[in-house]
Amino acid sequence: MSDYDQLVADTQATLERIACDFSPAVFASSLAAEDMVLTDLILRAKLQDKIGIFSLETGRLHKETLGVLDRIKETYGYDVALYKPEQAAVDAYVQQNGLNAFYDSVTMRKECCRIRKVEPLKRALSGNKAWITGQRRAQSTTRAALDVQENDEAHGMTKFNPLADWSEEDVWHYIRSNNVPYNPLHDKGYPSIGCEPCTRAIQPGEDVRAGRWWWENPETKECGLHVVDGKLVRTKSVA
Ligand code: ADX
Ligand code: SF4
Repeated sequence: MSDYDQLVADTQATLERIACDFSPAVFASSLAAEDMVLTDLILRAKLQDKIGIFSLETGRLHKETLGVLDRIKETYGYDVALYKPEQAAVDAYVQQNGLNAFYDSVTMRKECCRIRKVEPLKRALSGNKAWITGQRRAQSTTRAALDVQENDEAHGMTKFNPLADWSEEDVWHYIRSNNVPYNPLHDKGYPSIGCEPCTRAIQPGEDVRAGRWWWENPETKECGLHVVDGKLVRTKSVA
């Protein structure tokens, strides 16, 4: 068996184990490439009754990203559950600070992410035994110590990163060889996609996450979905 085939088999086994031992579980999908690999693996194995798939619809996503929801419906007949921010909190932020105040400071940026992502995430996770993400170790210095299985103390449940060992090449090999639908922005210089105003295309040779919150230092570039008590989970610095 090739290394790649072994990687896929291990990931399938991880998902089966989650469905068996950690149900009800949920998979948080940003609708980006990694998350489409996991969506395909979950839905092909018919694990959706044990592992639900949701997306945080922040209200600031690209139209191309929202279009992926339709592609998932067409391809797999599956409706991804959407969690939206509380309208009153969004309105208060915009009224006090302006629509795009996240460019002004890290504090303002984190507050926008808190309202639009972190609080809806809490709702999406409640009542589950485990949650799943599409994070990979190679994505950034903040993810260098990522494990496939972690204890997420902040949310009081187990957290799985089944693609922790996957390379970007593995992700694209899987997508192409299985005809998995994906966000067309990936073909336009966007390897990593978040909210529209906080994501730009990158130039050849730039780091894959260089287009996310590009005005900030690399150490602050996480949205709060993957932090515990203000600290990144299992962060280790990389030379
Ligand atoms: S982020 O922390 O910088 O925003 P990134 O875009 O790399 O994260 O995504 C990492 C993982 O976080 C995704 O694989 C997914 O599991 C989760 N995630 C990020 N954004 C969302 C979203 N809008 N909805 C659901 N899950 C998300
Ligand atoms: Fe707000 Fe940008 Fe965070 Fe999206 S990524 S929630 S627009 S600060």
